[in-house]
Amino acid sequence: MIQSETPASLIMIFGATGDLAKRKLYPSLYHLFQRKKLAKHFAVIGVARRPWSDEILRNHVKDSVLTSIPDAERIDEFISHFYYQAHDVADSASYIELKNLATKLDQNYSLQGNRVFYLAMAPEFFGTIAEHLKKDGLTDTEGFHRLVIEKPFGHDLESAIELNKQIRNVFSENDVYRIDHYLGKEMVQNIEVIRFANAIFEPLWNNRFISNIQITSSEMLGVEERGGYYEKSGALRDMVQNHLLQMVALLAMEPPIKLNPKEIRSEKVKVLRALRPIKDTEVPNYFVRGQYGPAEIDGKRISGYREELNVNPDSNTDTYVAGKLMIDNFRWAGVPFYIRTGKRMTAKSTKIIIQFKDVPMNLYYNSDEKLAPNLLVIHIQPEEGITLHLNAKNTGQTMETTPVKLSFSTNDIAGYNTPEAYEKLLHDCLRGDATNFTHWDEVALSWQFVDKVSQVWESHKASFPNYEAGSMGPKEADQLLEQDGFFWWPVTN
Ligand code: BG6
Repeated sequence: MIQSETPASLIMIFGATGDLAKRKLYPSLYHLFQRKKLAKHFAVIGVARRPWSDEILRNHVKDSVLTSIPDAERIDEFISHFYYQAHDVADSASYIELKNLATKLDQNYSLQGNRVFYLAMAPEFFGTIAEHLKKDGLTDTEGFHRLVIEKPFGHDLESAIELNKQIRNVFSENDVYRIDHYLGKEMVQNIEVIRFANAIFEPLWNNRFISNIQITSSEMLGVEERGGYYEKSGALRDMVQNHLLQMVALLAMEPPIKLNPKEIRSEKVKVLRALRPIKDTEVPNYFVRGQYGPAEIDGKRISGYREELNVNPDSNTDTYVAGKLMIDNFRWAGVPFYIRTGKRMTAKSTKIIIQFKDVPMNLYYNSDEKLAPNLLVIHIQPEEGITLHLNAKNTGQTMETTPVKLSFSTNDIAGYNTPEAYEKLLHDCLRGDATNFTHWDEVALSWQFVDKVSQVWESHKASFPNYEAGSMGPKEADQLLEQDGFFWWPVTN
């Protein structure tokens, strides 16, 4: 049951000394605390291998909060709720010590046995930790027990099934919160509201009125120090299997009969089931891969992917993916969903562009120009908002048209401070709301879809690098749309 107030709980963060905890989890927890969205009764145990003390962890949490919120109030009170437990993930003795500390905090803080286990660490340990939590008695309390897992959830369908089995031996599906941080983003959550709370869009939201949908999630950074992980992942697994397919599902799903996790998920699953499967020989018609090469930007040399730390100098890993997805159902038959994502592109931007079909007859040819199509742009980041592109009359003694834009931007609203995705997701998990987490069925179907592509790519060496750092990707990605009579709308306006 979803609770309106956050209940008392003990949060155990595995990977407490890591980067994710420092950059995202501690500041997000602090925000919840400051906004009084954490119960008064809460405690956090940071769990990791290093031999830290409570005091070292508390100072670390304080630093991480002050880095993003320099004027954080009541920070000392906040960090007093943190405890540290040095831990060996494979050793029962470690879990028993952890259990003893948890029992003590349960009593001291009146936590009613409610526990959230947040695994913010290397995925190879997810299964082992889940098994130990049960075997060593950490789930033997009266309250709820929820497992929060960061991505990647497996490496392909087979490994994901294996991991899921291990986890489900301990936690029921309802208690597993698989994070896809895109689902915590304000404007990703807004997709559903824009669609289902406005009478003007839903009647047009189908293959009679929409010609194609484009989703771009581009990054300017390279792989930084994550070469080791990225070599085994690539853009397809890192971004498409989860974030991009989740956005496709939200854009394409039918209206749920109710706004609860079960109904929403079941509509999203239907979209993923309707994705047209791709045969091996068809992969090049639907997917394009890329890898960035070196470039000079503003007089500075940018390394190519193959020169990055922990990357094979002959690497076949994709740092860019463009794809054309077809959803074979009544609503979407014939409408391509084009997706693209990559590292070291021109801009950091996530945008969804819905392109409507042309008007049936154009009365307003402006000399030789065609009328611009109507576009609905959903700006996910860095700007947040929506823009509707229309045609209107040019002012003056003329009947020529001119493109105009109706825009709504949350960035323009004073005091509208969008909470960080992690803050919302942590809050949801503490209240038992799994709507914005991925259900196993969604994970399995997404892997099934992308596995086909990765199998073909892994068995054929690509001629990489094929796009320059700082560009919008390889030219084949443009051809993917050109062959259908479309082009990528720029993401920079
Ligand atoms: C993560 C990927 O899931 O998403 C990263 O592992 C990527 O490689 C990141 O950089 C992008 O997230 P955001 O929120 O910056 O778009």
